[in-house]
Amino acid sequence: MKSTPTEVLRAENVFKLYPVKRDFFGKVKEWFGALNGISVEIRKGETLGLIGESGSGKSTLGKVLLDIENPTEGRVLFKGKDISTLKGKEYKNYRVNVQAVFQNPQSSLNPRMRIWEIVTEGLKINKILTKKRDLREKALELLERVGLNSETLDKYPHQLSGGQKQRVAIARAVALNPEVIVADEPTSALDVSVQAQVVNLFLELQRELGMAYLFITHSIPVVKAVSDRVAVMYKGYILEEGRTEDVLEDPKHPYTELLLSSVPGSKRTYPNVEELSINKGCPFYPRCYKRKNECLNYKVELKEIKNRKVACIYYQ
Ligand SMILES: Nc1ncnc2c1ncn2[C@@H]1O[C@H](COP(=O)(O)OP(=O)(O)O)[C@@H](O)[C@H]1O
Ligand SMILES: [Mg+2]
Repeated sequence: MKSTPTEVLRAENVFKLYPVKRDFFGKVKEWFGALNGISVEIRKGETLGLIGESGSGKSTLGKVLLDIENPTEGRVLFKGKDISTLKGKEYKNYRVNVQAVFQNPQSSLNPRMRIWEIVTEGLKINKILTKKRDLREKALELLERVGLNSETLDKYPHQLSGGQKQRVAIARAVALNPEVIVADEPTSALDVSVQAQVVNLFLELQRELGMAYLFITHSIPVVKAVSDRVAVMYKGYILEEGRTEDVLEDPKHPYTELLLSSVPGSKRTYPNVEELSINKGCPFYPRCYKRKNECLNYKVELKEIKNRKVACIYYQ
């Protein structure tokens, strides 16, 4: 029997609002909701895939979970504790255990540091290792683990290919043995030929080290390959969530249907819908083929149905 999965990191009813319009006195007149009440749970050793088109709030959610951005409302919990209340050792423990890999390794690696220094920086800062010899030895072990060799140790980022740089970023993320890695489109900036290799590396490392991933991607094939569960985001809302095979093989939300129909080579079709410019009720109303008048009074709420959660008036 599979044991009950334990929660490691959780967003609870998170809102992130950005000011978009100010009056003459600088007072905010209009807010934009990048996240509009998001709750997600990342479980020990599991991968939650986060999909949705560009601008849906995926990166913002990643940043809130990494404490790069503060939520306007709501909380982030690491092992049940609100991260905004963590201090000293406890906060450090959260930082060590929740690591990130971003889309563009070019901008996430310091161009003036050698690769061995980059991958061991966290170990040095946290005084886990201090001697240069030990750090270099550990760097080599980490680089080998991500498929690079000793020739990489003394190079600078610009001397590596995109795929190699992303491997370095991954080595740095695993260096402190984290419980969670938030990976934000980690393959999107890479050549198509190396994307699959990097996806496989994530899978291998998870098998060996047992970390949980929040894997953000707009690619359905990638999310299918890596995730145990998926959450579908649209305009700052999660509209559907469930086990990967359930959601991808039998989507319940019309937006998920639309996303799946746009995968190259997909047999799914999505009806042509006249797009409206209405900003009321269900956020997907303007593009939905099932829309009806009641949807204009619908307030997004994820409801639990048989094997997933859906936020749609048809599944109330
Ligand atoms: N600092 C910011 N100020 C204003 N708007 C922002 C800011 N960061 C993100 N946004 C807006 O929030 C929305 C979600 O952005 P993002 O989380 O990057 O989406 P995704 O990663 O899904 O493409 C976008 O419309 C974006 O323009
Ligand atoms: Mg993004």
